Amino acid sequence: MKTPEIVTTIATLRSRIAAWRKEGARVGLVPTMGALHEGHLALVRQTRERCDRIAVSIFVNPAQFAPGEDFDRYPKMLESDLEKLGPTADLVFTPPVSEMYPEGFATRVEVTGPALGLETEFRPQFFAGVATIVTKLLLATLPDMAMFGEKDFQQLLVVRRLVRDLALPIEIAGGLIVREADGLALSSRNVYLNPHERKIAGTLNLMLKDVAGRARSGDCVAEAEAGGLEALLEAGFEAVDYVAVRNAETLAPLRHAREPARVLAAARVGKTRLIDNMAV
Ligand code: PAJ
Repeated sequence: MKTPEIVTTIATLRSRIAAWRKEGARVGLVPTMGALHEGHLALVRQTRERCDRIAVSIFVNPAQFAPGEDFDRYPKMLESDLEKLGPTADLVFTPPVSEMYPEGFATRVEVTGPALGLETEFRPQFFAGVATIVTKLLLATLPDMAMFGEKDFQQLLVVRRLVRDLALPIEIAGGLIVREADGLALSSRNVYLNPHERKIAGTLNLMLKDVAGRARSGDCVAEAEAGGLEALLEAGFEAVDYVAVRNAETLAPLRHAREPARVLAAARVGKTRLIDNMAV
């Protein structure tokens, strides 16, 4: 089967994109850290529907991992990633760390607004790491469109904000969350779960549905959040970082879900940290 061309330098990436531009192609980019699953592949397929040429980046970005997080054991499987992509992607950009962070690299893109709170409370450097690499990937590719998943809802809002603030001429599209049969959102980190933890992980989605339902029916947001937190601990999660109902555009806290709202959660089971979210 045809697999995408592998490109490892920004110079080659730019020359391939320039050739596509000469053809008059509309170019799409799907940034990933690899260990591709159906959630990533759905983003690639949706990008394919709206673009003529597609680049997928596979780069495990050291700057978004804190010391002690899973950077060293993050699953790497380029061969099978390429096979999974097959002909749906034209090119895979998989640079070495030295290409993205050359000796003496001293720049950081920092976003406030939607980056404040939630993930940032537990992973303070995370969004600066994401914003820096995403900016570099977007500038290296300059696609017409880049696709991100709603799975990482706060990340999607952070990327939208940085593109708007820096006036990057790129459309940011959001893709729906792809889930397992029991509702667990697909994630490259789900491979860390043992069978017992995997069962517990499935309850995260049930909790989100319940909290979203309560917020929708006018319950006090703080009570719905507290109920969700309790449910996760009872189900066997060791720690709950947050269960939060927020404004769906700004992530500002709210008391009652009268405006478009989103419930977001992060919790730990075993050594694995899971995040998920749902529209209210
Ligand atoms: P990664 O976790 O590999 O995810 C790549 C993209 O796939 C993200 O936009 C993410 O939201 C989306 N995604 C993951 N699981 C999904 C699911 N179950 N359904 C739909 N989309 C899903 O997110 C990152 O990598 C990195 O932070 C990155 C943006 C590449 C910057 O390093």
